[in-house]
This record gives sequence, structure tokens and C-alpha cells, in this order.
Amino acid sequence: MARILLTSRLPDDALDPIAGHELIMPIPGKSLSTGEIADSARDVEAIVCHLRDRISAAVFTSAPHLVVVATVSVGYDNVDVGAATRAGVAVCHTPGVLDDTTADLAFALILAASRLLSDSERDLRQGGWTDRHLDGYLGRDVHGATLGLVGYGRIAQAVARRAEGFSMRVLHHARRPTGLPGFVVDLDDLLAMADVVSLHVPLTAETRHLIDARRLALMKPTAVLVNTARGPVVDEQALGAALESGRLFAAGIDVYENEPNVHPLLLAAPRTVLLPHVGSASFATRLAMARLATTAAAEVLAGRRPPNTVNPEVFDK
Ligand code: GLV
Repeated sequence: MARILLTSRLPDDALDPIAGHELIMPIPGKSLSTGEIADSARDVEAIVCHLRDRISAAVFTSAPHLVVVATVSVGYDNVDVGAATRAGVAVCHTPGVLDDTTADLAFALILAASRLLSDSERDLRQGGWTDRHLDGYLGRDVHGATLGLVGYGRIAQAVARRAEGFSMRVLHHARRPTGLPGFVVDLDDLLAMADVVSLHVPLTAETRHLIDARRLALMKPTAVLVNTARGPVVDEQALGAALESGRLFAAGIDVYENEPNVHPLLLAAPRTVLLPHVGSASFATRLAMARLATTAAAEVLAGRRPPNTVNPEVFDK
């Protein structure tokens, strides 16, 4: 029996794979700081965490028995993977099970931002729907528009499938040529051609502020930007300014540079739909993610090598 730190309550059905182990659970509703995680991790062999938790180098130095960190997320920028690898700790994540749910949300943002749904609903709720104006809340058509996908992994491809149903023309850019129809070599060209740009890249040193003021200026003034990937991929200050000045038509945003804080310029920006990082938030998908993470933790504890390990080299040490 091992000791496993769960930084959040998980659905009961996600706990079967780790039944028989000693579970250290948080107080419901309380999130642990990095320091508290490091303290609580001193005697554990496994941590099951999620995006909100920073699993920094300090956690690995304070946890001599730790063998696995399983994050209930597909992105793993919350974990210092380099430090984990140096400490011989496997890092596991949850690829594959959230693609369609996140693509649904990205598409919802494409529709909501293009058709100004937040602005019009807000006005209605505030009693501002007093008359019908032919020129009120005029949005941009999604059907027939050109969608530019930045990154072409599983989630982007799921968005592309939805876009086909809306008769969109779909282009994509990725670091390496995909060899698939719609591939655009130069990101700047894709940004200039697209009516809707949807971001689907992981957060890395290369993608931080990938969409900065210069690249926002390349986009059409009628264009819509959607970000369901990671907040720091976009320079929020520059995005807020582009929306405020009308340089960019609209934005649909689910992820932020400094979550859960949202840049004041974005909060104030017109024609902007803002969601609290809910891309994978459906009952079925969150359960599947949690089960995938607990299964990976159990596998590593049992001496096996789960396929969803991001640093499998630790198993060869
Ligand atoms: C969500 O953002 C995830 O990485 O799972």
C-alpha cells in the first residue's frame, strides 16, 4: 500500500484504480499552495493533481519517496517536468479523453464571439432590450468563413471536423508540416487569411506570447480570436488593446495568463466572451480524465509504464 496525495476531491468512480492505497485528501473546497503541496508530499509515493496546482522543483526535493505525479489535465505546464525527470519521478497526463469536449467548447466560443452573444445577453439581462434595431448586435457569419487553426493536434482536428459541418474553409498551421490539405507553412500568413483563429498549441517557451501585438495586427480587423489552449500563448494586454480599439472584431477566451485572475483590459473589452477555463468541464469527461490519472498513478506504483507518461525515460533509469 502506498500513500497518495490527492490535491482535489475526485469523483468516487475515479478512485477505484487506487483502492487499497492510503489517500490523503484535501479539505473540500480548499486549494493547496505550492508550499502546502511540498509539505504534504513529504511522505507520499504519488500525487494526483490538476492544473491549478504548481508542482515545482521544491515539491520534488521535499518528497524523497515520490515516484509519480499524475495531473488531471492534458496540458502539463503546471508540472516542472525537468525537475521530475531529474528526480526520477514519472509525470502522467490525460490525453485523448477530452478532445471532443474541448472542441465543443472551442466551437461554442467561435459561435458566441462571432455573434456577440455575451454583449447581447448582458444587455438583455440589464433591461437594455428596449427596441429592435436593424443594426443592433451585428456579428460575423461563421458559416462560410475561413477558420485558421494554430496547432493541429487532436483537439484542433476535432474542431476542424465541426467546422466542416458549418461549411467553413479550414486552414491549419503546425510547427512541422502535416502533409494534410489546408496546411499553411507560415503562421503569419494563416493569421492574415483567417476570419476565425483558434489556438490549439501547448504552452512552451516557444509558444509563450505567440500571439503578440505584431501578430494581432496581421489579423483582419473583422477577425475573431478564440483561445481554449493556454492563456500565456496570447499577450492579453495586446489583445485587450486590439479589442478596445476595434483593431480586432471579437474574442472568445477560456484561458488566461494568470488564472484565476483575468486581465482588467479583457474584463473591460467589448465583443468578448470570457469563460472560466471550462474547456473539458463535462461530467463524463472530467470523470474520464480523473480515472485516467488515477489509473496511471496506480500503474506506476505497481511498477508498470503507463502510455500516458510524458517523461518515459524515467523508467529506464
Ligand atoms: C485543460 O486545460 C487541460 O489541459 O486538460
